[in-house]
Amino acid sequence: MENQKDVLVLAIESSCDETAAAVVKNGREVLSNIISSQIALHTLYGGVVPEIASRKHIEKINQVIEAALSEAGVGLEEIDAVGVTYGPGLVGALLVGVAEAKAIAYAAKKPLVGVHHIEGHIAANFIEHPDLEPPFFSLVVSGGHTHLVRVEDYGKFDILGKTRDDAAGEAFDKVARAIGLGYPGGPKIDKVSREGNPEAICFPRAHVEDSPYDFSFSGVKSAVLNYINGCRMKEKNSPWKNAGEGELSGFSQADVAASFQKAVVDVLVGNAMHAAEEFKIDKFALAGGVASNSALRGAMKEACEERGIKLYCPSPVYCTDNAAMIGAAAYYEYLAGTRHGWDLNAVPNLKLGERYE
Ligand code: KG4
Ligand code: ZN
Repeated sequence: MENQKDVLVLAIESSCDETAAAVVKNGREVLSNIISSQIALHTLYGGVVPEIASRKHIEKINQVIEAALSEAGVGLEEIDAVGVTYGPGLVGALLVGVAEAKAIAYAAKKPLVGVHHIEGHIAANFIEHPDLEPPFFSLVVSGGHTHLVRVEDYGKFDILGKTRDDAAGEAFDKVARAIGLGYPGGPKIDKVSREGNPEAICFPRAHVEDSPYDFSFSGVKSAVLNYINGCRMKEKNSPWKNAGEGELSGFSQADVAASFQKAVVDVLVGNAMHAAEEFKIDKFALAGGVASNSALRGAMKEACEERGIKLYCPSPVYCTDNAAMIGAAAYYEYLAGTRHGWDLNAVPNLKLGERYE
């Protein structure tokens, strides 16, 4: 990179319920990272309402971009490219970011670089780890995705396994709602689990036959629902109707949360380490919202240390949706020559490694 000019990317992310913009230098240095979260709004409804998310993105996006530029202390004329998430995600939400990025790129005469959201999550690891370079393995665990990926090179992925049904984050959110913790479920389960016994209830660890790297979380979710329904029935028929402190309808929220979390973490770490051993990997990167889960980080750390694997985890702010990670991924796409036209569209079910040209 010596003697080469710095590359500044203005990145935009609006695939779900965070309106975010960032300025990233050379794919690794974050000059600003502005996130306007809609969590409080969607909490009223127990989950993300797509129509509300799109409207909120429209209201916030200009402010967020202005704040990102001003915090970075750069003007649009100094930007080298505009990076934007164009899939996967909620179509209406994605469209707001894509339309905005196209308008800015067109007006400022800058190249437009569309980014895959999951590629962004993986690239979040580049921000704080200057030594991390492909090839490495990544476990991407978010609200919509659970992927075990071999990162062959920048922008080049080999998907070894993925979920057959619910994503890990989705399972956290559904179980949290069922046990009365509300939305967003992941961080709440993480917190309440610290007071619970992870061995209290043995929930199933699903393994997909003939696909050692695939995941399935709908079974553990159903097992939790059955367990709490069973407890409620017993409670109804019991002469001792008043649940004790920390208990809700005959079960301990903390024990159910901790036992569920342990079941999910065991499967995630189990498959990840199976792949690590099979492919003799010495670098492993966690990514996605669930990567901020303390039990997962702890278990991965231990498992990687035992095997001499170097583990990379983004700080929690770069695990959940943000635009800095999109800026990091956009930089490597930009270097590889990726340029999108004014016909770039939102692709809600975009596959990792798939290119829309
Ligand atoms: O990556 P992300 O922000 O959005 C998607 O691309 O889906 O991930 C959001 C997901 C949600 O399901 C949320 O409950 C989960 O990540 N999550 C967590 C934690 N923090 C966020 N799950 C478990 N433990 C956490 N600490
Ligand atoms: Zn995400």
